[in-house]
Amino acid sequence: MKKLSIKKLMAVVIVGVFGMTAVGCGSSSNGEGKDKLTQIKENGKLVVGMSADYAPYEYHALIDGEDKIIGFDVDIAQAIADDIGVELELKEMNFDALCESVQLGKIDMTISGMTPKPDRKKAVDFSDIYYKAEQAFLVQASNKDKYKTLADLEGKKIGAQMGSIQADIAEGIKDSNVKLLADVNTLILELKNGNIDALIVEAPVANLAVTANTDLAVGEEIVEDSEGGSAIGMPKDSPELVAQVNSTLKKLADEGKIDEFVQKAVEQVKNQVE
Ligand code: ARG
Repeated sequence: MKKLSIKKLMAVVIVGVFGMTAVGCGSSSNGEGKDKLTQIKENGKLVVGMSADYAPYEYHALIDGEDKIIGFDVDIAQAIADDIGVELELKEMNFDALCESVQLGKIDMTISGMTPKPDRKKAVDFSDIYYKAEQAFLVQASNKDKYKTLADLEGKKIGAQMGSIQADIAEGIKDSNVKLLADVNTLILELKNGNIDALIVEAPVANLAVTANTDLAVGEEIVEDSEGGSAIGMPKDSPELVAQVNSTLKKLADEGKIDEFVQKAVEQVKNQVE
């Protein structure tokens, strides 16, 4: 009798130990150990973070009466998800939270017209550049002749998105009084209301903003982007994922799809204005 109960006890202990090990393995196989691409495949979805305030890159639009995030970055995200063979989930967040969210694993990647500048490269790994754009600034149409170049903005109130390269450009202008906000649409309102004198954004964004806001104009000086355009930010040390994303980007570029997506996004904004 006594022997048996010890055996039984041992069995309970052994099952207990194995059970715990199984739980341990289970949790670690969902996290570390497997590469990011494999994790995304196992999750069945690709979670992409973006700041949807940047037409034609990513923006809100009413599609069949429903509020949706669309834009050429969204089309690129969908193509990447399709090639991996998973669903796409978009997560909207402030632009200045995107890199950290990739680092913390809150999102799998960020596609948000992001320029791969050196300090960001320390936090995330970037894909190849998928789109190139120059920098421009918006002013009130009535000030068009007054503010033609960045030098004309010396000592003025200049708006830029928080955490953006445009914020760096604005800070670099002599005696500038820089207003940083999280949302580009709010900055456009600030410009319309005369609370700022100029707003720096990527040129395609400035060009589209004036079609929707006839009281605004694009400043004459266009600034070249020394950092070289937009790239997709992914977790550090995820070479499989980076290779997968670059292969989709290359395929899209070779097929002329990225230009097509950009064109489509621009048309969609223009149609909304009409
Ligand atoms: N290209 C700029 C940067 O990387 C601004 C991008 C803003 N993107 C956006 N979706 N609001 O800093």
